[in-house]
Amino acid sequence: MLIRKPADIRPSEITSESNYLNRRDFMRAGAIAGGTLLTPISMSAMIPVSQGAALGNVGNSAFSTGEAPNSFEDISTYNNFYEFGLDKDDPAANAKNFKTRPWTIEVEGHANKTGVYDLDDFLRPFDLEERIYRMRCVEAWSMVIPWVGISLAEVIKYFEPTSKAKYVAFETLNDPQQMPGVRRRVLDWPYREGLTIAEATNPLPILAVGIYGKVIPNQNGAPIRLVVPWKYGFKGIKSIVKIRFTSTRPKTSWNMSAPREYGFYANVNPEVNHPRWSQARERRIGAGIFARKQKTLMFNGYGEQVAHLYENLNLRRNF
Ligand code: MTE
Repeated sequence: MLIRKPADIRPSEITSESNYLNRRDFMRAGAIAGGTLLTPISMSAMIPVSQGAALGNVGNSAFSTGEAPNSFEDISTYNNFYEFGLDKDDPAANAKNFKTRPWTIEVEGHANKTGVYDLDDFLRPFDLEERIYRMRCVEAWSMVIPWVGISLAEVIKYFEPTSKAKYVAFETLNDPQQMPGVRRRVLDWPYREGLTIAEATNPLPILAVGIYGKVIPNQNGAPIRLVVPWKYGFKGIKSIVKIRFTSTRPKTSWNMSAPREYGFYANVNPEVNHPRWSQARERRIGAGIFARKQKTLMFNGYGEQVAHLYENLNLRRNF
């Protein structure tokens, strides 16, 4: 399968040069006006609505792995998104008509800037980057995914959390009309996740809006989802509608559902097994049924960037 990466796509294929210049002028004007952006004119071209549309002005990241990414097919057909069903192929089938516009994100809690933001307004201050990350699911399989997103650390800084903000909590949309899975109480909806403020301001996590340079498929968490590459995949909450700065540790869905199996931290750790299976090895999706399982790496191989966050923590107890 031949897939063009963003670097191969000429900007003219995505947006006209004048549109691009408009955006720059617009952003400069916004900066002059003290950061208060008033009209969403040109930027809407940058985050297209339709599934599969190309994303413009995507920078590269030094954090990208050199490992070969999984195919778009693997990434968009083997999913966990319980709001759309429990089987791996359910989300692709059941999220086809999921409406991702209009979309708002509510920012609340201990921060100087809070409010309800239309998605385009929420994204506007930030730059898009491609981050090719190794992803490790708690179910002992892994993939390499070329995400496109914005730095979570930049987002956190932008909203100016106060000294009371020790954690960041996230919530997924909870819409029984559109999400057949939430009509059953397999989890206590809405899906919830959280990070410590130190984790959330580490340079690695992103809020992803794309994959392979294109608008993120609904089944992968459109229009915006969290990606934390050193943690098990369930921390990567999809289709986010709420971000809350809290002083106490927020409740998280899998921890609420089975606290002895899924901890708050959920750092990838080959030495701490899930009570029902080993975490020492993993199956790389797409490698073929005869491929050997590969060794799982501590912090999924991102220890250099994140090990310092847990220096004084017993990782066996705080799994
Ligand atoms: N977010 C929501 N809202 N609902 C979910 O069921 N599943 C999680 C996570 N985010 C889930 C979710 C799990 S278990 C995994 S492994 C990843 O999404 C899978 O992301 P992917 O389908 O894009 O690979």
